[in-house]
This record gives sequence, C-alpha cells and structure tokens, in this order.
Amino acid sequence: MADCRICKSKTVRVMDFGKMPIANGFLEKPTGSEFFFDLVFVFCPTCFMAQLENTVKPEMMFNEHYHFISSTSKAMQEHFRKTAEAIIESASGKNDFLAVELGCNDGIMLRHVAAAGIKHVGIEPSSNVAQLARRNGVTVEECFFNRQTALEIAQKYGKADVICGANVMCHIEDINSVFEGVDALLKDDGALFFEDPYLGDIVRKSSFDQIYDEHVYYYSGLSVAELAKRHGLKLVDMQAQNVHGGSMRYYIEKGAARAVNTRVEKYLSEEKALGLDRIEGYARFKESVDRICQDLKSTLMRLKAEGKRIAGYGATSKSTTVLNYAQIGPEILDYISDITPTKIDKFTPGMHIPVKAYGNFLNDNVPYTLLLAWNHKEEILKKEDAYRKNGGKFITYFPKVSIE
Ligand code: TMP
Ligand code: ZN
Repeated sequence: MADCRICKSKTVRVMDFGKMPIANGFLEKPTGSEFFFDLVFVFCPTCFMAQLENTVKPEMMFNEHYHFISSTSKAMQEHFRKTAEAIIESASGKNDFLAVELGCNDGIMLRHVAAAGIKHVGIEPSSNVAQLARRNGVTVEECFFNRQTALEIAQKYGKADVICGANVMCHIEDINSVFEGVDALLKDDGALFFEDPYLGDIVRKSSFDQIYDEHVYYYSGLSVAELAKRHGLKLVDMQAQNVHGGSMRYYIEKGAARAVNTRVEKYLSEEKALGLDRIEGYARFKESVDRICQDLKSTLMRLKAEGKRIAGYGATSKSTTVLNYAQIGPEILDYISDITPTKIDKFTPGMHIPVKAYGNFLNDNVPYTLLLAWNHKEEILKKEDAYRKNGGKFITYFPKVSIE
C-alpha cells in the first residue's frame, strides 16, 4: 500500500487498470518500444484524496511535444472567456491587480485578460503551448509552479490578487508545494480558484477515462477542504462546471475574509451520501467500469461481425484509458478523426490506431462512430448533424453504452 501524497497515511486500492501508456504519447510509427506504467487508482481514507498509486515523471508528459491544445473546442473557448470576464470584473478599479494562471496552455483564458490590459502572468512548462500563448499576447513564465518558483514570481511581478488554474492542479504531484507557493504568492485578501474533473461525477457516472497518467489527483470538496486546511487556507465556495464530463471549481482564500458559501456544505453532504469519504463508497466502481467495458467491446465486436466499419471521434487523452483497458485496437476502429494538427497521421498510445484529419471522416460516410470525445457531445452532435441525417450513428459509453 502506497502512502498518501497529502497526509502520508496508507492509501487503499480501488482499481488496478494494469499497464498503460502515456495518455498523450502519440507515436510517429506503430512499431518500436513504448513506455508503459501501472495505472492504479487509490483512495486515502484519512484525508479523502483519490489519487494514482504510481506516477510518471512530469517531463515525460509535459514537454515540447505536449499534444493537448485547449482551444480546439468552441465550448471550452466560451467557458474560458467567461472565466476571464469574471477576473476582468474583479480587477476593475484596482491599480496593481495581478492575475496568475497556472498551466495557461495556449492562452485560451489569459488572452482576454491580456487584451483588457490587466497585469497577468501565465505559468506553463510545456514550451510548444507556451509559445502559442505568447503569440496570443500572454506573458508567460515557462516553469513548473512550486514554492520556489512562486517566490521568484512574487519577486518579479508582485503578489497576486487571483491565482487560478483549470485542469492543472490535478496534474501536479507535489500539490503540497503548490499550495505553499499559493500561500506565498497570494495577497492576504487574494483568492485561488481552480477547476478539475470532479470525483463526484467520476464515481456517479463510472467515467473512469478521467483516470490516466496526467491526473494524479481526483478532487472532491472533502479532499480539497482538507488540503486547504493543511496549508492554513480555507475552501469558501464550490461551483459545478459543465465541461470535461463534469468538473468542479473550488474557491480558496487565505483567512476568513469571505463567508463560506452554503453550497460548500451542500456538496460535502452529497459527497458523504455518495460515500466519497470512505472506501466502501468505491466498492462498486470497478464492477461498474468492467461492465461498461464489456458492453462496449461486445457492441463493437457485434457491429464488426455484421461487416460494419467503425471510426473513432476525438483522440482524447481520456480515450487512452478506455481503448487500452477495453483492448480496442485498429482491428475494430479503422482510424480516429481529430482536428489537433500535432496528432494527425500519428498512432494512438498503446493500441496504435491511426489518427486521421477530420476531412477523412467528413468524406467517409462510416456507418458507426465511437464518440471518444464524449465530453464534447453537445458540440459534436450539432456539428455532425448531416452525418446523422445521412444515417451515421454515434456510440457513447457513459454512464452506459448507447447508440444514437
Ligand atoms: P479533450 O476531451 O481532452 O478536450 O480533447 C478533445 C479532443 O477531441 C482533441 O484532441 C480535439 C478533438 N476534437 C475533435 O477532433 N473535434 C471536435 O469537434 C472537438 C470538440 C474535439
Ligand atoms: Zn491522505
């Protein structure tokens, strides 16, 4: 049993997914050696943090070849424009306002803050996306955020009114150091807010595809409240976000500056009712994941046996866990369509399915498409209306396998 990274107590295993490749480790060729690690999902009954048992070195995931570009989805662009608006509003009338974003990616959010002339800095260790952010007018520091770099940033830019991050806090193994950094960089009346895939949604929908190398932590209100408390900070609000298949935004402040919103208590009670504070709450998770995988595999095999061709839609990081755990390879999916230029004409990690440009899908009239980017379902179904009107069908799998 591994120790919890937050409180050092013993963790309990919830589910072992076996050997998995790097979720964004797309390959130039479908042959040659590939890195695999043991993907094991564990839970700490002491501080309630769900996490990975083993992690991969950050440099192996977040480097100049990082394939995840935030701005590929219209819905995400809109989501982050709204986040920026809230920051711009809280900056109004304040001289000396500073917004810091951890993991600013291509500048999807900070570009608006920059355009409003507000002092800001994005922290981004992946040099290729940092470059895109700079092109979007964003000031970027290319580094990993921790206590040390936080002190350097405070020295160079001053202390922050807002520190924020989306889909980044769950990536950072040494989260204790991040929280120390937040404490050092934040003004006394400043606020940290961050959002990540929500453990409540993962457990409720059995959406196990959130579990992959980059996601070290699976936050809940319960675990974030504990984590904040350990660093002398306080969880003051929680707001559910309808992105990435169910995310939660947590607001954390230094002192008791703001009253705790009643939503926090409501979410914490819901989480306890779901069993997120005890190992028994996770008992059915594996069973339910295995059932979805078996259903999915047998549905796809049945269609293949009927001579139907099947494509995939969206070579997401999440799909690496689904495809590898359910063993869905190129003998089932002819290819996966994706609009991310750096993924096109490469091969998916582990299963080596070819990734093809969107044009392929548009001209193909493939009868069935596995919607791997299920978290963008609404946007994609709207975009692919003609495909469905022509008889094409999408297969989805959370919370159960369905064809529509
Ligand atoms: P994400 O689920 O991690 O945001 O990744 C979405 C992936 O799906 C990304 O590789 C881009 C791809 N994608 C498409 O190919 N077409 C689309 O319309 C959308 C929304 C995403
Ligand atoms: Zn713990």
